[in-house]
Amino acid sequence: MKAAIRVSRDDVISPIDERLYSSFVEHMGRAVYTGIYEPGHPSADGDGFREDVAELIRPLRLAHIRYPGGNFVSGYRWEDGVGPRESRPVRRDLAWMALEPNQVGTNEFMDFCRKVDAEPMLAVNLGTRDAQAAADLVEYCNVPGGTYLSDLRRSHGWEAPHGVKLWCLGNEMDGPWQICAKTAEEYGRLACETAKMMKWMDPSIELVACGSSNREMPTFGDWERTVLRHCGQYIDYLSLHQYYRCDDGDVPSLLARSGQMDGFIREVAAICREYQTETGREKPIGLSFDEWNVWYHWQNEGGDAPRWVVGRPIEEERYNFADALAVGGLLTTLINNADTVKIACLAQLVNVLAPISTQPGGRAWVQTTYAPFLLTSRCGRGTALRAEVDCPAYDCAAGRDVPYLDCAAVLAPAGDGLTLFVVNKSLTEEMVCTLDTPVRTGELTSLTAPALDSVNTPEGTCIRKTVTRTGPKGCVTLPPASWNMIRLPGRADGE
Ligand code: AHR
Repeated sequence: MKAAIRVSRDDVISPIDERLYSSFVEHMGRAVYTGIYEPGHPSADGDGFREDVAELIRPLRLAHIRYPGGNFVSGYRWEDGVGPRESRPVRRDLAWMALEPNQVGTNEFMDFCRKVDAEPMLAVNLGTRDAQAAADLVEYCNVPGGTYLSDLRRSHGWEAPHGVKLWCLGNEMDGPWQICAKTAEEYGRLACETAKMMKWMDPSIELVACGSSNREMPTFGDWERTVLRHCGQYIDYLSLHQYYRCDDGDVPSLLARSGQMDGFIREVAAICREYQTETGREKPIGLSFDEWNVWYHWQNEGGDAPRWVVGRPIEEERYNFADALAVGGLLTTLINNADTVKIACLAQLVNVLAPISTQPGGRAWVQTTYAPFLLTSRCGRGTALRAEVDCPAYDCAAGRDVPYLDCAAVLAPAGDGLTLFVVNKSLTEEMVCTLDTPVRTGELTSLTAPALDSVNTPEGTCIRKTVTRTGPKGCVTLPPASWNMIRLPGRADGE
């Protein structure tokens, strides 16, 4: 098959917010206990964090890590997780039916963020708790000293304030599965009053209000409008969450999800613009896609684990190569919507729906989805440019006329080098692609695997990486079922 990609330096979508490359660690399954934290592990540092895991996280260059949930946060008492470890309570976590020993809490998480060079994005509990508890946590974290809670932090051993800039006002509050779920009116009011108190405590913080838990929620749209009506003036971002499935091995439909994500983003962006026009608000409300990923293996395979244990092993997806292609495609959608999506968290980071897996007491290794995220995060910074793609399309259960190529173009922050990220969704045919770009000579990196269901193991990766030069007049051949990165160095880069 044949395709053409046209990119002009003048056709700018937006500078890419580096927070597009963020992730998420929840007190869920083995994300924390035997994931990032395992005192006694041969690689554990003095604080109990696994250095082998940190070594796999650092190259991802994550801007932010969201914490501590997720559904977990809706029953969380943050006070349980600070102070001397030996006196912290063990509780039942009703979100995930596990035991929470509170050995990792807010302060330890701050240390972990520093260890992996990321910023924290903290969520407050708007399920079982109120505005006061949320404002208290801002005081504990961000006030330098001289107040009860800031001095309490100092007495716990963290002299300097944590300076947490980004906060989520609860999590998925429309979901019946949420601890103390709310109607849009109830949540909107609570988010409004909580936002006011949190910003009065520290005016420099930014706040994310909960949008719908996913696009299929029956209240989608109404929820967003009602929440914005109540708390719009106090917030900076509205959240989107969506996980994508592969039903009955239908990979073409899985790979069409990037288009569905695009539609979802555009719908929420339109609602935010509508609110802005109605209210005359100056600064647009940004979108925080703070949970996105592929999620279906564990559920399809009927995975379960005994309840009320610490680090209950759940939702440990074993991602295959088709999932890696899907993640690569979803990333192109996020880049192509960089004008509205300012924050995006790959959910999650370790063991739970994660690009990184661990064995308790043993090895840490990467899943297939790690590779496209790593390369996009490392090379996808700068300015998003509109890529005009002319390519054949296919029909599948997820939709008609799905283009065979997903593509995003990024102009480097310095110099004028261009990087294209392209997924060839044809499972059987290569795509011969001509580039109509300012520079046409450069390097093509392609990721493929022996089969769509190939997986990584602790012993190694199934992914094959090939690097070739672009052909004459900017011609590249993208293998069937491949993720590709085309790097076209600019004049300033010496080409
Ligand atoms: O990321 C796993 C869970 O998915 C989160 O706890 C919740 O917010 C979402 O439903």
